[in-house]
Amino acid sequence: MGLRSGEIGSRLIRLEVDGQSRLATLNLAPGVSVYGEKLVVVGGKEYRVWDPFRSKLAAAILKGLKDIGLREGHSVLYLGASTGTTLSHVSDIVGERGVVFGVEFSARVARELIERVVKHRRNVVPIVADARHPRLYPSIYGKVDLVYCDIAQPDQTEIAVENCRIYLKSGGKLLLVVKCRSIDVAMEPTLVVKQEASKLKESGFKINQVVELEPFDKDHALIYAEPQE
Ligand SMILES: C[S@@+](CC[C@H](N)C(=O)[O-])C[C@H]1O[C@@H](n2cnc3c(N)ncnc32)[C@H](O)[C@@H]1O
Repeated sequence: MGLRSGEIGSRLIRLEVDGQSRLATLNLAPGVSVYGEKLVVVGGKEYRVWDPFRSKLAAAILKGLKDIGLREGHSVLYLGASTGTTLSHVSDIVGERGVVFGVEFSARVARELIERVVKHRRNVVPIVADARHPRLYPSIYGKVDLVYCDIAQPDQTEIAVENCRIYLKSGGKLLLVVKCRSIDVAMEPTLVVKQEASKLKESGFKINQVVELEPFDKDHALIYAEPQE
């Protein structure tokens, strides 16, 4: 069972900041802010405020995602690492005993990921590669507890499924961000989400939850799924 988003865990908490309830993660690199997020000390520990307008995983938790499929010590294959905004919070949650393999195909963006995140954290392994060719990843070892996919490509569901087939442990989970406009600009967004969920079911996945991300992100949803054993 992963860390439940409603729970106050030691690595993911809710706190009051400027009179508002906010999510925050225990900072694995004290003193370092990744994307300008606030650092707050609670009980002698430093937390990073997690911005739901910058991170779709934070938005999904606030919109009622019941289980993020993640806990301390987990290993994660993160597709679409970008400059590390969400990935850095995932790194906080899995902690020193966990590992996050971050796949990003833009070398320029990956350089920024290294400067902002990898340099300060020992649990992040950058992989500069195309997620369409998962067998060619240069540096990944073992199988992972979670595949997180946010690559905004029309065929991203197929890409996520293929990555799960190769790298997901038995009992592992998938979190798939659906950017409806990247898949079909003309189709009604709710139908795009249904279509992607159907693709997952046809590929043998069970859908645990679908969360729409409005008002944080328009026409986006997050699907939480797992392969049926
Ligand atoms: C929407 S951004 C990801 C944002 C990030 N997940 C976050 O929340 O901080 C999508 C990223 O996926 C990368 N990307 C797109 N297609 C890819 C592919 N086929 N393989 C690897 N990375 C890809 C893009 O370069 C971009 O940095």
